[in-house]
Amino acid sequence: MDKLDHIVEEAVSAFAAVSDAAQLEQVKARYLGKTGALTERLKALGKLPAEERRTAGAEINKAKTAVESALEARREALREERLLAQLASEALDVTLPGRGTGQGGLHPITLTLERLESLFRSIGFVVADGPEIETDWHNFTSMNTPENHPARSMHDTFYIEGREDVLLRTHTSPVQNRAMVAHVARHAETGTMPDLRIIAPGRVYRVDSDATHSPMFHQVEGLWVGEDVSFADLKGVVADFLRKFFESDDLQVRFRPSFFPFTEPSAEIDVAFMSGALEGRWLEIAGCGMVHPNVLRMGGIDPERYTGFAFGMGLDRLAMLRYGINDLRLFFESDLRFLSQFR
Ligand code: FA5
Ligand code: MG
Repeated sequence: MDKLDHIVEEAVSAFAAVSDAAQLEQVKARYLGKTGALTERLKALGKLPAEERRTAGAEINKAKTAVESALEARREALREERLLAQLASEALDVTLPGRGTGQGGLHPITLTLERLESLFRSIGFVVADGPEIETDWHNFTSMNTPENHPARSMHDTFYIEGREDVLLRTHTSPVQNRAMVAHVARHAETGTMPDLRIIAPGRVYRVDSDATHSPMFHQVEGLWVGEDVSFADLKGVVADFLRKFFESDDLQVRFRPSFFPFTEPSAEIDVAFMSGALEGRWLEIAGCGMVHPNVLRMGGIDPERYTGFAFGMGLDRLAMLRYGINDLRLFFESDLRFLSQFR
């Protein structure tokens, strides 16, 4: 009897001494396993005289139950300890301020483009486009700028090694030819040609870099071809667009005579800064003019019957004027301190 009490006591303190579940199962074997102290006692019952066997059996079973319940209690305690340790190590302080995810926004050039597109759409222009890697023929020849023409040297062009026929387009004007050809084909069977009115925004490339020139920049080509389209229409459309775009009736705009091989007559359009460090200074925003007959002809359109105007606007320049920004390279440096101001 004393011996049994002793085994139980020893088991209880051995259970208490272990610090994890695996150790506990090993210690358990010492008492309840196949060769455990209590198991051995039960096995030995058979050797006792019959009259002692009953009481002894009852005593051993009582001790066994006591050990088993101590074991279960310890198991439970270890589970609890483990859970608490885990909770402590994965503690979450719900009172800390969140890290947050910065709110994104559209790039100022994208905002400018969306504004421009919606204004031109509202007067019946559709958006067209063409490839940035353009054929030499579309970029220059279709724009009445044949090989050896001095105007070709006005653009410092990015050519592609080993490919003489393609280049990074230097302006959006090659879309004029692509749009004319597609328009003519679309209406070939009807014998008449409705007005062609497109804008073609996109990236263009030149070997240029200063506060108002970037090697990659954005232009928006505009083209309206129809019967009786005049220079007055060009001035009207552009002036009206600019007033709406800048939300200002007293915007300072000037048309300055210029030269392009693909327009005749030609002009450049300047707008004055209305705010910021450059207030009052003129900035050239576009080249424009009446589409040259050779350009219409190469587009499959009869210049005796149709006339048209075209312009090529610098989208980045429009954004500079609209937001009063004095260096266009800021648009392409991806500095969040700059970009987040346009959210
Ligand atoms: C042209 O590129 C002509 N294709 C425009 C045109 C189209 C004329 C249709 C007639 C008819 P220009 O090289 O001037 O022209 O460029 C047009 C506009 O693009 C400029 O007025 C300016 O606003 C912008 N621009 C030109 N170079 C850069 C540059 N490196 N960085 C930013 N903007 C530029
Ligand atoms: Mg120019």
